[in-house]
Amino acid sequence: MWYFYSPSIIYGEDSIDFLENITGEKCFIVTDKIIEKLGYLKILTDKLEKFGKIYEIFKEVIPDPREEGVLIAREQCISYAPDLIIALGGGSVIDTAKTVWVLYEFPDLTLDDVHSFNNKLYDIGKRSKFIAIPTTSGTGSETTNAAIISRLENDIWKKFIYTHKGLTPTYAIVDPLFPLGMPPKLTADTGFDALSHAIEAMVSNWRNEFSYAIGLKSIELVFKYLPLVYKDGENKEARDFLHQAATMAGLAFSNSQLHIGHGMGHSWGAIFNTAHGRAVGIVLPYVTQFLLNNPDEGDNTVEIYAKMAKQLGWAKWDEDEKKAAFLVIEKIKELQKKVDFPTKLKDLGISREDLEKNLDSLISCCFEDATVVMSPRSMTDEYFRKLFDYAFEGKEVDF
Ligand SMILES: [Fe+2]
Repeated sequence: MWYFYSPSIIYGEDSIDFLENITGEKCFIVTDKIIEKLGYLKILTDKLEKFGKIYEIFKEVIPDPREEGVLIAREQCISYAPDLIIALGGGSVIDTAKTVWVLYEFPDLTLDDVHSFNNKLYDIGKRSKFIAIPTTSGTGSETTNAAIISRLENDIWKKFIYTHKGLTPTYAIVDPLFPLGMPPKLTADTGFDALSHAIEAMVSNWRNEFSYAIGLKSIELVFKYLPLVYKDGENKEARDFLHQAATMAGLAFSNSQLHIGHGMGHSWGAIFNTAHGRAVGIVLPYVTQFLLNNPDEGDNTVEIYAKMAKQLGWAKWDEDEKKAAFLVIEKIKELQKKVDFPTKLKDLGISREDLEKNLDSLISCCFEDATVVMSPRSMTDEYFRKLFDYAFEGKEVDF
């Protein structure tokens, strides 16, 4: 038995107008101050007013949201008692809203009760529906059943992943109007986040045919449209397709899981405060090479990457499997170059000394990250140590 979870997805120009068709009139909006400043919050509230809905706003979400913020929003949500919760923002906003939704629906629970084995959570949605409206094209959070919230432990802000199928939003409204104003650097970072989601999803231990198919299309769209949008952020058609690609990548990984690229990215981000998409995008070619070097003869990662390269038109159908598979790394590097993306962790301005000082913490964060068990190649302390070292220096992975 397998399964594929997805919200109802409304996408393309003017998809925001679908709000009119969703029953419920008392809306609790979760967002942040940047979204308000960009004028996006006003676009949403104008629409809600036009459609005869009333609302209250929580706009205090911060990047890498913390448990304290979630609890404050939950209190506000409980006292307002909405029948619709609307998240307008990037991954941090949507993740916060997901946890607010679950804690509003089940006020007797804490965040620690939000996990895959809590069957009670399948009953979510009795008090409110949850609508996610992404304003960036990357996290895929509008489709996923996971929320990442930080908690301070041993002086490090550790990211905890709360996962349950019940956390899948009821609706995802993927309107290209919102990412239209994203600056080039943020466009590249979030685009590489989406690309990492799609590629990791296709080889993860829970890979499946649905995730493969959607991941493949997402990769095709990212490679075609990210360079266009990077050069011309106002290109509406390209924005629309890149926005769709991010949502597709979200669906792919939500249903098959991510692995060590994200494990390393989460760890690096927690310790050095690097933007998530930037961290996972930098390590992506190193992790890909590491997986292709897997000596386990039963592993079929080479076959999967080779098929990917052939289906995407990067390799001829009769090309040698290994050669075709390694083309995926070349293509990722080419795309990095096209959008002025850093190619090694050292480019982030972190010194070798800082890396050495934090290496043990980085590795232990990787092992604490839920993604580690999804790696198609079994991980060891030494592998992570070397991967950080090689990705830092920009060396070819030869192990
Ligand atoms: Fe990600």
